[in-house]
Amino acid sequence: MQTAELELLPKKLHIVTYGCQMNVYDSYKMADLLSPLGFVSSDKLEDSNVVILNTCNIREKASEKVYSELGRIKKIKDAKAAKGDNLTIIVAGCVGQAEGEEIFARAPYVDIVVGPQSYQTIPRLLRELSRENKNLLNLDFAIEPKFDALPEESASQGLSAFLTIQEGCDKFCKFCCVPFTRGPEFSRGVSDIYREALAIASKGAVEINLLGQNVSAFHGKNPDGSEVNLAKLIRYIAQIPNFKRISYTTSHPRDMDDEIIELHGTEPKLLPFLHLPVQSGSDKILKCMNRKHTAEEYLKLIEKFRKARPDMAFSSDFIVGYPGETEEDFQNTMDLVKAVGYANCYSFKYSIRPGTAASYMENQIDEEIKADRLDRLQKLIVEQQQQFNRASIGKKLNVLLDKKGRHENQATGKSEYMQAVTVENAEDLIEKIVEVQITEARQNSLMATLTKASS
Ligand code: 5AD
Ligand code: SF4
Repeated sequence: MQTAELELLPKKLHIVTYGCQMNVYDSYKMADLLSPLGFVSSDKLEDSNVVILNTCNIREKASEKVYSELGRIKKIKDAKAAKGDNLTIIVAGCVGQAEGEEIFARAPYVDIVVGPQSYQTIPRLLRELSRENKNLLNLDFAIEPKFDALPEESASQGLSAFLTIQEGCDKFCKFCCVPFTRGPEFSRGVSDIYREALAIASKGAVEINLLGQNVSAFHGKNPDGSEVNLAKLIRYIAQIPNFKRISYTTSHPRDMDDEIIELHGTEPKLLPFLHLPVQSGSDKILKCMNRKHTAEEYLKLIEKFRKARPDMAFSSDFIVGYPGETEEDFQNTMDLVKAVGYANCYSFKYSIRPGTAASYMENQIDEEIKADRLDRLQKLIVEQQQQFNRASIGKKLNVLLDKKGRHENQATGKSEYMQAVTVENAEDLIEKIVEVQITEARQNSLMATLTKASS
């Protein structure tokens, strides 16, 4: 394709997003970046001119998935080439950053590889590619220029939107690749964030989720140079009338100060639900992971939140089978889960990530033991989730309705605890937040009727 042609022809872009919510946000931004070049989003890979795999490197399974998907895409690229059509393949995201040139070695038909801090250069790289047909790699690491280069005006994310306020991480938990793939901790400027929040609100979002790998470490600057922490930023954002719900993710227990805890008790827009990963309930393992807090400190934190807001609920991430984890350490994790009583949790077998400190440890745990511990932990987590959902029966919750339900006149949405709720007689209330009474807890969702206040 010639450069002029690249600029003028309408073209189709297919993005496949893996991993975390920040990748979802980044994928929106990639689509925004390419729209001035004439790209429109397409659900169908076969019809597309460019495909972007926005990848996740957090566990081995996630990164290996990329290569198997690339194998599938190659067949489509070959079939299109046989008809004289081109399919440009871009690998973006954390696997791009971690693997770099290795991607071209394993999959030479990939055209462009970019990392999470250099995807703003995709339009330039596509132009370059149209001039000289060779593999192009950009793994630059400076975060600030990325945000400066991203378009302010973005496509609508719908009723519930993501906004990245912080990126990267300086915590260096020994199992984690994020400090290497996303880079050092960086907080965006407050006026930049505020402008983007206003744009998101004007596009119709009523719920905003502030994102960061370490969002609780946020310390952005006002234009006068004064520093703003997460609690203050949320107070600013809460003033935007269109936003009815505010949440933030992901937090580190070490950064949760009294100001943010108190805010949960005083700011009604802030959801009473917090994802606060602890990873393990064993002090020995927490120390080996470099988490810099004990199980007891974590439990105290939970207690403080519940004191500030008694209806607060929590979710967490857990890793089982971290190097050196004994059955006793694992039992400490089970005890911590029982002590907290989570609404919901994510749990994983420890997975070696090349280059991280834990990958060099010699006391790695057998896969069978990991699988057995994961199974026991997940059974407990499911039990707790069901218990949490059953405890909702009879309660009044607020649901942001976003689509039709399966049956006539039903609508579905999410409660303030992120539970899926189906509401009777509510089809004409889609896009609204309604007060409901929970009538039944099913396997994966709750059933509800409108309260007097909503009907
Ligand atoms: N192995 C397994 N799980 C991991 N996570 C991060 N790194 C690893 C790893 N090497 C999990 C942590 C983190 C979540 C996003 O992914 O629980 O909180
Ligand atoms: Fe990874 Fe730990 Fe940073 Fe979270 S806090 S991104 S787990 S290094």
